[in-house]
Amino acid sequence: MSETPKAPQWREDFPVDWAEDRYVERRDFVKFLVLISGAFVAGQAWIVAQNWLRRRRGAAELRRIATFDSLAVGATLVFDYPRQHDACVLVRLSETEFVAYSQKCTHLSCAVIPRPEQGVIVCPCHDGLFDLKTGRQLAGPPPRPLPRVILEIRGREIYAAGIETRAS
Ligand code: FES
Repeated sequence: MSETPKAPQWREDFPVDWAEDRYVERRDFVKFLVLISGAFVAGQAWIVAQNWLRRRRGAAELRRIATFDSLAVGATLVFDYPRQHDACVLVRLSETEFVAYSQKCTHLSCAVIPRPEQGVIVCPCHDGLFDLKTGRQLAGPPPRPLPRVILEIRGREIYAAGIETRAS
């Protein structure tokens, strides 16, 4: 008849309460979930607050962005509008025709790049494609047209006069 093996010495030296150990794991997991949920809620609240503030600022200001002489036909110019770090891009289509859009792709906000020679604006992140003349999405994942910068021509100067966001 064999004897039951004796528990190793380390178990006696360092006893582990397994039930308690599992309880701590669950508690840690719940803490983690609460932390992640809290961060998510804070992020959403920040976005809502930013949008609310943006709307409250009201009509965008009129800002001179270029002159006819500073931009050749087919050339592009990146500028900030309406605020610093709101990158937009101006494209001269012909002697008298200009278009400008927000440079943020409507998919995941990558910077779009105009290709005037092809009549399109491309988003290199996921091959999004927009029409250069209208800003409407042509291909890829972007769900909406690019927000259009309203332009005003005064003499030979080009002004940004607002942003038009379009749903489709
Ligand atoms: S961010 Fe532009 S297509 Fe995805």
